Amino acid sequence: MVKDIRRAEEFISRQKHLVNPEFRPVYHAAAPCGWINDPNGFCFFGGKYHLFFQFNPYSSVWDSMHWGHWTSKDLVSWEWAGVALAPDMPYDSFGVFSGHAVVKDNTLYLIYTGVYTDEEGKQRQVQCIAFSKDGINFTKYEKNPVITADQLPEGASLYDFRDPKVFRHNDKYRMVVASRGQKGGDLLLFDSGDLIHWEYVEKHIEGMAVMLECPDYFELDDHTVTVVSTIGMPFIEGKYSSPQPVLGLVDVEKNGPVGDALDIGYDFYAPQTLLTPDGRRIMIGWMFMGPNDFPPRYLGHNWNNLMTVPRELRIENGRILQLPAKELNACRGKESAFAGKTISGKCGRIAELSIDIDVNDANEITLRTAESEGEYFLITYDVKSQVISLDRSKAGYLFGKDGATEERPNPKAILPAKDGKLGFSIYMDRSSCEVFSKDGSLVMSTLICPKGEADGFFCASDNESSNFAVTTWEIVK
Ligand code: FRU
Repeated sequence: MVKDIRRAEEFISRQKHLVNPEFRPVYHAAAPCGWINDPNGFCFFGGKYHLFFQFNPYSSVWDSMHWGHWTSKDLVSWEWAGVALAPDMPYDSFGVFSGHAVVKDNTLYLIYTGVYTDEEGKQRQVQCIAFSKDGINFTKYEKNPVITADQLPEGASLYDFRDPKVFRHNDKYRMVVASRGQKGGDLLLFDSGDLIHWEYVEKHIEGMAVMLECPDYFELDDHTVTVVSTIGMPFIEGKYSSPQPVLGLVDVEKNGPVGDALDIGYDFYAPQTLLTPDGRRIMIGWMFMGPNDFPPRYLGHNWNNLMTVPRELRIENGRILQLPAKELNACRGKESAFAGKTISGKCGRIAELSIDIDVNDANEITLRTAESEGEYFLITYDVKSQVISLDRSKAGYLFGKDGATEERPNPKAILPAKDGKLGFSIYMDRSSCEVFSKDGSLVMSTLICPKGEADGFFCASDNESSNFAVTTWEIVK
């Protein structure tokens, strides 16, 4: 184990000097080199936040999954903490796939999916654990795996059984884990008294989409919330704009699995949450969605992918609301204010924008960010239909395969104005734009790679009737 981790770390320390900084984010966690995907094991332990992630150090495409590791004091500045897990055991030699963390007896346990290739050449998925006293060096449990295919209910796939989330439930530990059953995507529940011996309980969700991935499960504001990333949901414009929408399901036991997409931007998947010491439920997601091709990959920049900013979740009237975590406010630098019916201004490329709009008699509202030299990221709002749409086709490098035009339709969602007003908080980094509606009802996370300075913004309505009030802050860290 140590050998494989050391090999990866030696490779990273050489490779990181070959990473091209042009699109590297300033305040988002990003791949040190190579490829990253899902956040893993997001937790608070030993006085720090820990964020692990799916990681292939060796090239900027998905392959050979390890767990990389960052720590942070404030959820915004992430420090590299090394490779936590490598695919170095017979039961995880194909990859150390996603999972969560749990703290027990002052020890940090990582619960993950081990993937190995069976005699028929197919990839089998089993659940495993690793533990650490210092939160940095992990030992895999000597009797891994702790759950194998033998414990699966009848009809469950041996090859799609992954991404465990573990939490306290009564006086036990409960695992919710994704599985593919005969009717489609299932979430299975297992219980354990010691994190080692697990018993199958029942299905939490059955037959949803084709397959579910990366479940999260938590209590929030007197509700239980299940978050799932989906494969094969039917495309519904305005509701499920992503090819693989992430759904936030409130009170599944009472209501059944209906839920809205948690993020309607181009890029969001596999989020995880934690509870902060002061009781807030914070979510971070992977800011990417295939089949997009992130330009730093095809430009040969030797790194690929980043995470979203942290967002705080709340529930009001049975709906999940998402707001930027308050820690982001501490990054506010120089402030500027603008007001008018048409505004174009400079806010810098690494910036937060607060935009308040009195819609008045407008039919269409246009917001542009990351604007310079004919490039911009476009957000439009159709007042009558209440449809907000995004378009990154003019925002610099293209996101189709190897830089081709993207094929998927532009994301759209319904956003009702309240008393004729709309408000947005927008977070710009070197290669991303995350838009929050101020009421928390909508988030849109999108990667963009502008070629120019991308330091301007623009607000207008079709008939010049809307009023805009904009405050911008440079983001400094
Ligand atoms: C989701 C996912 C997970 C899996 C991991 C492998 O992006 O497919 O289901 O554990 O990525 O990297």
